[in-house]
Amino acid sequence: MLTGGAGYIGSHVIVALRESGREVVVLDDMSTGLRERVPADVPLVFGSVADKDLVVQTMMDHEVTGVIHLAAKKAVGESVERPLYYYQENVGGLLSLLEAVRIAEVEHFVYSSSAGVYGQPDHSPVLEDGPTVPLSPYGETKLVGEWLLADLAAVMPLSWCALRYFNVAGAGDPALADTSVGNLIPIVLRDDSEGRPATVFGDDYPTPDGTCIRDYIHVVDLAEAHVRAAELTEQARVGEIINVGTGTGSSVLEVLASLGTALGHEVAYEIGARRAGDPGALVASVDRATEVLGWRSRFDLDDMTSSAVTALADR
Ligand SMILES: NC(=O)c1ccc[n+]([C@@H]2O[C@H](COP(=O)([O-])OP(=O)(O)OC[C@H]3O[C@@H](n4cnc5c(N)ncnc54)[C@H](O)[C@@H]3O)[C@@H](O)[C@H]2O)c1
Repeated sequence: MLTGGAGYIGSHVIVALRESGREVVVLDDMSTGLRERVPADVPLVFGSVADKDLVVQTMMDHEVTGVIHLAAKKAVGESVERPLYYYQENVGGLLSLLEAVRIAEVEHFVYSSSAGVYGQPDHSPVLEDGPTVPLSPYGETKLVGEWLLADLAAVMPLSWCALRYFNVAGAGDPALADTSVGNLIPIVLRDDSEGRPATVFGDDYPTPDGTCIRDYIHVVDLAEAHVRAAELTEQARVGEIINVGTGTGSSVLEVLASLGTALGHEVAYEIGARRAGDPGALVASVDRATEVLGWRSRFDLDDMTSSAVTALADR
C-alpha cells in the first residue's frame, strides 16, 4: 500500500513499484494529490491515513504485505503557522496508520522522512547518525515519525526503513511534475514565466559563490530508492535511517544557470536577505544508501532542470 500515491513523489513511486513487478494499492485523501497522477488500472482508495477502519479494511481487501508511507503535509512555512495541524496530520496520521499496521499484522514499512530533520548542521555532508535539530514543526513531525517507528519495532515484528530525502526535483514524465511552488526549481520557473526576477536569499554564505548549497535528487532516482528500501525490509528485520541524495551539492546560482540552459535564456535574479534557519550547505552522505540499499543516484542537476522545464512547457 502506498499512501500519498497521487502526490508528486508518490506518483513516481507507483511507476517504480510497477516496473519492479509489484502490485500496489494507493490510499490518498486528495488534499494535495491529483487523480490523473494515478494510472487507471491502479486501485485508488480515497480517504485519510487517519481513518483507521478504512486503512485496515484496505489492507485486508488488497492483501497488503507492506506500506510505503508518503502521505503528509510538507510546507515548512505553513507548519510554523499551524503547528497543531502539522502534528495532527503528520504525527497523528502516522500513529493511526501504525495502529492499522498492527491490527492487520503488516510487517514491512518504508517511511518518508526529510533532510529537514538535520536543521543547521555544522558540517556537510551530513551523516545519518549526526545531530538532528529540526528548525520547523514540519521537520519535527518527520523526526517524531522515525522515533515512533523505532519504538513500535521494539515491541512488534516490524521491519522498517526511513528515507531522509534531500531536495527533490525533476519529473520522470511531464504529467507527474511537481505542481506545488514550495521548492527552488518550481519557484524560479514560476517567477521566470511571470517575468519576475527570482530572489536569491543571501550571497554571503561561506560557499564558493556565496549562495546556499543543497543536494538535489531526481525524483525518479528517489522513487527507485523506495523499491530498494521495500526489498530491504522484506529481506531481513531492519530498522534503518538512510539519506537519499546524490552526495553532490549545487549552489543556488548553479541551479539558476542550469535552468537558464534548459530554458534557452538566462534566468533573471536579484539578491535578497538571508532567510532565518537556512544552512549554508546541506549535502547528504550517501555511503549508507550505497552500502545498505545498494542504491546510487543516476541523474544529475541538468537532468532535473531540463525535465522540470519540459514538464512546465507541457502544461
Ligand atoms: N517534495 C520534497 O522536496 C520532499 C522533501 C522531503 C520529504 N518529502 C516528503 O515526501 C512526501 C511526499 O511529498 P510530495 O512532495 O510528493 O508531496 P505532495 O503534496 O505532492 O504529496 C502528498 C500526497 O499525500 C496526500 N495526503 C496528504 N495528507 C494525507 C492524509 N492524511 N491521508 C491520505 N493522503 C494524504 C496528498 O493528497 C498528496 O497526494 C511527504 O511525506 C513529504 O513530507 C518531500
